[in-house]
Amino acid sequence: MKKSHKVKVFTGIRPSGDLTVANYLGAIEPILKLLEEGVEPMVFVADLHALTDKEPSLAKKYIHEVVADYLALGLDPERTTIFVQSVIGPQLFTLMSYLARHISVAELLRVPTLKDKLKNNAREETANSLLFLYPVLMASDILMQRAEQVPVGEDQVAHLEVTRLLAKRFNDKYGNVFPIPKAYQVKSLRILSLKGEGKMSKSVPEGAIFLTDDIESAVKKVKGAVTAIEGKMTDGLESNIVLAKGLCKSEEDRTRIDTIIAEHMAGEKVMGEFKKVLAKVVSEFLTDFQEHRKIVVQTPGLIHSVLNKGARIAVENANETMALVEKVMFK
Ligand code: TYM
Repeated sequence: MKKSHKVKVFTGIRPSGDLTVANYLGAIEPILKLLEEGVEPMVFVADLHALTDKEPSLAKKYIHEVVADYLALGLDPERTTIFVQSVIGPQLFTLMSYLARHISVAELLRVPTLKDKLKNNAREETANSLLFLYPVLMASDILMQRAEQVPVGEDQVAHLEVTRLLAKRFNDKYGNVFPIPKAYQVKSLRILSLKGEGKMSKSVPEGAIFLTDDIESAVKKVKGAVTAIEGKMTDGLESNIVLAKGLCKSEEDRTRIDTIIAEHMAGEKVMGEFKKVLAKVVSEFLTDFQEHRKIVVQTPGLIHSVLNKGARIAVENANETMALVEKVMFK
């Protein structure tokens, strides 16, 4: 058997539309920091997960877009493995079935993301059952690569808990096959909609800054962002501060933000100033990203060669994990 490719850090994004700056801050920015520290991460495009609520043709259309985004955001293809989930579809669905035996229907119905969906925008009678198995498929992704750390936004933490539970139950029954993966951050990030209500998400475009937004419309959205009355801190303002500091490219702007917020808390009327700085950092971030992205998509063969290398590694790891799993299960 070939030597496995050890995966310390692992994360994925669904190809379900253009990415937002919250996707970047929740999942990619922590990976960039780790790259600087010499860690070689593995990231993937979760095209099978996208099928829960998107047509297959749409998910397919966005696969290469997400890869281009990964590269333009700064993931160095020499040191990052990037692959598409469906290249190991058969192995993932097999592992998902083995893992699903270790969690009950009642436990899956209690996963907060499913509960929220069923309460807010889906009905039990009509929601497709891939939604129900979503966390088990996510556990398969992570455990298949035997990953140790998983940077995700706060909305995915419950799925990580399911993954940890399944890894422990499997190991307890069959022996130590899986590392127990951890969230990368002690407190995972939750960027709110610019309007302050709910998380920033692709499905509420007025409150979201997309990486593809033109500067003018992004600045317009920032102008409509929530602030707070002098001397008060709100969840919405706090999230917009995290956003501003997360996208900031200079120490000078970061200090400026701290000063403005200190003045605000001291009762001064400075929220207009804050929005100006937020608009500046958002514009600079988007301009820089969009310039890089142009270069990425204009480089002939880049995305294909990155995905070919990634597929080879993902398949090797998957075959090795499945051999280990089946050896302990069917002995
Ligand atoms: P997806 O595509 O919905 O989101 C990609 C990443 O962006 C994070 N994110 C946020 N972070 C902070 N604030 C927000 N408002 C915000 N919105 C989105 C998400 O938490 C996520 O980290 N299930 C995953 C994809 C996946 C996966 C995996 C991730 C499938 N298997 C295995 C890690 C490991 C998802 O829906 O991502």
